[in-house]
Amino acid sequence: MQRSPPRIAPSILAADFAELGAELHAITAAGADEIHIDVMDGHFVPNLTIGAGVVTALKRHGGRPFDVHLMVAPVDLHLGDFAAAGADTLTVHPEAGPHLHRSLQRIRALGCRAGVALNPGTPLCALDGVLDIVDRVLVMSVNPGFGGQTFIASALARIAALRQRIDAAGLAIDIEVDGGINPTTAAQAVAAGADVLVAGSAVFRDDDGDKGTGDDDRTARYAARIAALRGGS
Ligand code: DX5
Ligand code: ZN
Repeated sequence: MQRSPPRIAPSILAADFAELGAELHAITAAGADEIHIDVMDGHFVPNLTIGAGVVTALKRHGGRPFDVHLMVAPVDLHLGDFAAAGADTLTVHPEAGPHLHRSLQRIRALGCRAGVALNPGTPLCALDGVLDIVDRVLVMSVNPGFGGQTFIASALARIAALRQRIDAAGLAIDIEVDGGINPTTAAQAVAAGADVLVAGSAVFRDDDGDKGTGDDDRTARYAARIAALRGGS
């Protein structure tokens, strides 16, 4: 089956936190499809990042849907705040609450798209019983908590198995992959069946020696990297 090009969701975890508004404008102008926001609580994962207040402030600068990845436990008491802050998709980990189905129902009742994130060690059967109320499955290709980690190759077989299951059931569920995505792993993930690619370092980190100072330079750099992830250059 002919599939659409992958959608790219830059993770602002790797952006310049002192200039988040400008970073959002730049990735929007550069062709990002969604903005991936990693919310970490220093407890479910060993890092502390962004709260709902920051998401509210960023919404004024974001021209693309906000894809909010909640690495927070217990997660339920935060869902309302992030929905009110402007999240378009809210993604939760099955381990982050006692009743995954209820969390997903609540996300939809708040008017958001509902996502489930699966860590590398979480079996795919964690989706049994909830697929009919899921809009997106996020396959983690690193253990959550930090940007800049190496892609775990066993994610590819998991993406392929999920693709088969979703297509066989005729469900309209995105498969998103998150962690260690670069042009090489992006192509592998897309071949396995991913629809949405999250990329932090591969979009924001200036380690390719290609630096300019102005906003136009920044947008051009991000556009080239996003195109490379899509397989366009
Ligand atoms: C990891 C986060 C990722 C991270 C990806 O816990 O969920 O979204 O920002 O960063 P890179 O693309 O650098 O691996
Ligand atoms: Zn993420």
